[in-house]
Amino acid sequence: MALRFGIIGYGGMGGWHKRYISTLEGMEVVAVHDIDPKRVEAGKADGVRSYLHLQEFLNDPDIDAVVIATPNDVHMELALACEACGKHVICEKPVALSVAQLDEMIAGAKRHGVVFTVHQNRRWDKDYRKVMNALKEGEIGRPYVIESRVQGPNGKIHGWRAEKAHGGGMLLDWGVHLIDQILWMIDSPLKSVFCVLRSVMNPDVDDYVRLQMEFANGLVAYVEIGTLFLQPLPRWYVGGDQGTLRIETFMDEGRLTILKQAAVHSNGPLVDTGAGPTRTFGKVGSVEVWQSPLPDPKTDWLDFYRNFKTVIEDGAELVVKPDEVRRVMQVLEAGFESNRTGMPVVFSE
Ligand SMILES: NC(=O)c1ccc[n+]([C@@H]2O[C@H](COP(=O)([O-])OP(=O)(O)OC[C@H]3O[C@@H](n4cnc5c(N)ncnc54)[C@H](O)[C@@H]3O)[C@@H](O)[C@H]2O)c1
Repeated sequence: MALRFGIIGYGGMGGWHKRYISTLEGMEVVAVHDIDPKRVEAGKADGVRSYLHLQEFLNDPDIDAVVIATPNDVHMELALACEACGKHVICEKPVALSVAQLDEMIAGAKRHGVVFTVHQNRRWDKDYRKVMNALKEGEIGRPYVIESRVQGPNGKIHGWRAEKAHGGGMLLDWGVHLIDQILWMIDSPLKSVFCVLRSVMNPDVDDYVRLQMEFANGLVAYVEIGTLFLQPLPRWYVGGDQGTLRIETFMDEGRLTILKQAAVHSNGPLVDTGAGPTRTFGKVGSVEVWQSPLPDPKTDWLDFYRNFKTVIEDGAELVVKPDEVRRVMQVLEAGFESNRTGMPVVFSE
């Protein structure tokens, strides 16, 4: 039998979910709810039952599962309402504004026996899977630093994302993806989080983020997000003890290369660099250096929905587990705290 979805919040992302769920075998979108009458009309035009009032939507017996795609500040209350009506929940990211809110959502799902997960869809991004696969295969030896960044040129943030009251700001909006990716990839306890937030163009929220995570295995990961960078740095830059991995953008697969060099380095030649000479930062010595494209990781992000369905129907394991989402939320909270105090937040995992 088909899994029948309802969507709460039929804006940009709600429409996206409708479009893609409708392509999947054994899944359909049967209803939407939005507080904006124009979006209710849009739902009707798209051929689904469309409700202006939440309670009518919740009373619809044909909805098995709900995707919550509203601004972030109302995720918790909506998830709790759906759970109480026995509906499975996919919540958009960031799942909530605090660990305490998330704990209520997880407890609500347990209490009412429904499946609860979060749309951390960027676990399926190709650029990310390439990094993950390369590290797993040991392509660059033991990684000691990962830099993951998104930088854009447009400065001003659009709509409710520029408003703190709605859970706006880039740490919550994009930080949640980049932190989730790092935590899902690195199998080591987290030691500390240090974070700097700035409001460059958007006075009410952070639009520049630099967050550092240090792990027990010695690896340090930096997440950097900025809405005003006209000369963006690479999406990924990873240093290992046997090479370097670099990916320019998530859209651009063509210029993806791994630069490899032998673990035992020879001395390079002495070179002039402006006002002084250097050997360490000069040319490559007589080591093996070669570049290679990273193989296509062949991911399909629609597996997110397929996994959700098999969890409900066959008791499979969730890919995006509530306790993983909770760990991400702890890092987000630590990021705000570290920025406030100017000190790292120590973890004891
Ligand atoms: N995972 C991703 O790749 C991704 C991408 C974009 C957005 N998102 C997330 O999706 C969510 C929605 O973002 P968006 O870009 O679609 O925003 P949006 O502004 O385009 O749409 C939000 C919709 O929710 C409606 N809404 C507001 N409050 C409501 C309420 N209390 N009850 C019912 N409807 C309500 C609005 O009228 C609007 O139609 C956010 O949590 C955002 O972070 C995720």
